[in-house]
Amino acid sequence: MAMGEMAAKANVGEGCDVCAGRTYVIERRGDLAGAKVCACSERCTVCGGKGHVLVEREATFSQKVGSRRYEVLEPCVCTHRRKRVALFNDVGMPGVVAHASFDNYRAFNEAQDRGRGVAMHFAHQYVKGNPSKGFVLSGPVGTGKTHLLASTLAHLVLELGVRTRYVEISLLYATIRRGFQEGKSGGEIIGPLSEVEVLAIDELGKGRGSPFEMETLDELIARRYNARRTTLFATNYSLEPERKSARQAPTGYRSTEDARAAVKETELLRERVGERIYSRLCEMCTFVELPKDTPDRRRTRQEMDTHPSLGAGAPRGPGR
Ligand SMILES: Nc1ncnc2c1ncn2[C@@H]1O[C@H](COP(=O)(O)OP(=O)(O)OP(=O)(O)O)[C@@H](O)[C@H]1O
Ligand SMILES: [Mg+2]
Ligand SMILES: [Zn+2]
Ligand SMILES: [Zn+2]
Repeated sequence: MAMGEMAAKANVGEGCDVCAGRTYVIERRGDLAGAKVCACSERCTVCGGKGHVLVEREATFSQKVGSRRYEVLEPCVCTHRRKRVALFNDVGMPGVVAHASFDNYRAFNEAQDRGRGVAMHFAHQYVKGNPSKGFVLSGPVGTGKTHLLASTLAHLVLELGVRTRYVEISLLYATIRRGFQEGKSGGEIIGPLSEVEVLAIDELGKGRGSPFEMETLDELIARRYNARRTTLFATNYSLEPERKSARQAPTGYRSTEDARAAVKETELLRERVGERIYSRLCEMCTFVELPKDTPDRRRTRQEMDTHPSLGAGAPRGPGR
């Protein structure tokens, strides 16, 4: 039977302007991003809507009988697609980055180029069920950190069928606090996040740094670390104290007082999350730091809208 071959050859969605051959679309639904099967792929030409296909196999069960051919029923590509779309709708990805992809990310400096490279490499080499080293993206506001987390999770879920979750750390603290009022324990909320195959934690280091927040973060990260699970992070706090302060104080005209104050000002992730968590991050992740002068895309876009002449060549896809 040629059903299996047909499944392999089927190029559903190819040439579609809406999904560019991906067969699914991600769209903003209020606060969250949601996925759906593209209209071009709703009617499956592979299985005719049955959802499964017959695939021919060959195997040797005994030497006497020798090699035998047999047919098995397997889920069709359209079944996988529907499942992945449903998985995506459980990620909790913010609606504001529904448009984000590796393709529409622009690197304005080497560090951003490296950031995209690290995220893309992570996504493309990831094998479902095999934990791998994650990454931490550190940098100023509006530089595409959440954009890259979103692009990575979208690839993992929709191309590979990996179960993932996105959490913004201060929203997580708020959810747990609200849970307390409803009589839920922190563990009820932390539990599923500790176990999901890939977790993205955004805005790491944000918050009041209260004992409750530190304990929550410590528990979540320690549990994922102990289980060797993959975790991705984005943060506005800096990863590299030494190199920074060396660059900022090249000459001797700064007093030790000034230098000490400067260290306090350079908001270090290590100081925000504490040694225990930072030490685990070093082992769990590849670090990428974007320099302070990386342009804020929210502002540059605003300026381009106000002064359209400045925006020549600004890359903007349809509906983005
Ligand atoms: N380098 C980039 N290329 C393309 N789009 C970008 C880039 N940087 C930011 N954007 C877009 O600008 C908006 C803000 O980006 P994003 O939310 O990823 O920033 P961020 O680094 O997470 O900022 P913050 O630190 O404030 O959370 C998004 O719509 C995003 O798609
Ligand atoms: Mg962000
Ligand atoms: Zn399509
Ligand atoms: Zn099908």
